Amino acid sequence: MKIAVLPGDGIGKEIVAETIGVLARLELKFEFEEAPVGGAGYEASGHPLPEKTLALAKQADAILFGAVGDPRYDALESAKRPEQAILGLRKALALFANLRPARVYEELAAASTLRPEIVAGLDILIVRELTGDIYFGEPKGIRPHASGGREGFDTMRYSEAEIRRIAGVGFEAARKRGKKVCSVDKANVLETSRLWREVMTAEGEKNPDIELSHMYVDNCAMQLVRNPKQFDVIVTGNLFGDILSDEASMLTGSIGMLPSASLDANNKGLYEPIHGSAPDIAGKGVANPLATILSAALMLRYSLHQGAAAERLERAVKLTLRDGYRTADIYTAGTRKVSTAAMADAVAERL
Ligand code: IPM
Ligand code: MG
Repeated sequence: MKIAVLPGDGIGKEIVAETIGVLARLELKFEFEEAPVGGAGYEASGHPLPEKTLALAKQADAILFGAVGDPRYDALESAKRPEQAILGLRKALALFANLRPARVYEELAAASTLRPEIVAGLDILIVRELTGDIYFGEPKGIRPHASGGREGFDTMRYSEAEIRRIAGVGFEAARKRGKKVCSVDKANVLETSRLWREVMTAEGEKNPDIELSHMYVDNCAMQLVRNPKQFDVIVTGNLFGDILSDEASMLTGSIGMLPSASLDANNKGLYEPIHGSAPDIAGKGVANPLATILSAALMLRYSLHQGAAAERLERAVKLTLRDGYRTADIYTAGTRKVSTAAMADAVAERL
């Protein structure tokens, strides 16, 4: 099992290194090969997604990704910014299906900014389309404006085929869970969303065992903090999914807990924590490695077909939390505050 290891920037390096250490404790044959990406890619070769890094990602069985981004690169032109690395990988590898589960561990219900009874037992899955929408729609740019000055513009686009494809992933996922799909759009305003809703409705009719509902994105943002347990699977576009998944992460206590899988049509995937590079705490040994460790569990399950190992890893994380280990982001009085490395060691010991 060949894993492309792309730590990237900021805390990406620490959390990925610790995760590799945990994986190495499983009795499986991994071959890890590391390559620079994001700001690190730019430093190494003048581009956030160096050719060699992309080639490695293409030939590996799965990709373990840390995070990209650093304020040092904020002034670069768009094409050279670290974020282009992750967007480029998603596009080049056709990773159109982004799965972002948000699960509240019993032990962490008190770490959420919401009241424990609102979030306790929460288990939702956001299925975010990842290679279309306003992220990639052309035309886009900054140009002179007729009234003087400039204008910036982006284009929101979805083809029927793209909507149908992500709908399929959503219905399939729901079938293995609570059998409910909520499709999120902005069909009261956007044409793209009107088509989205039409196609989702047609796909819903082909999946009569799944209960399909529709919700406007603004209402969904509100419902996620009002009564998040009403949801099972949320299926949405790239931009709305980006925003809603950050929101959903805070239901779980910390964005430091949320893993993600980005899959192509054959379940080859890129696995990354949904938090970013957190340059403010990089190198201090305080970042939470659990989102990356849980991403590795998703990698074992979806791309490497090692379901039993995935469960072992997830169980070890649960036991670590039960035993009171907490990084700073999920610390509450009466628990034990530990470093990135100590948290990962605690997980490894519990495998
Ligand atoms: C995410 C991130 C990325 C996105 C950025 C880093 C380009 O926010 O994975 O959610 O917007 O998709
Ligand atoms: Mg995001």
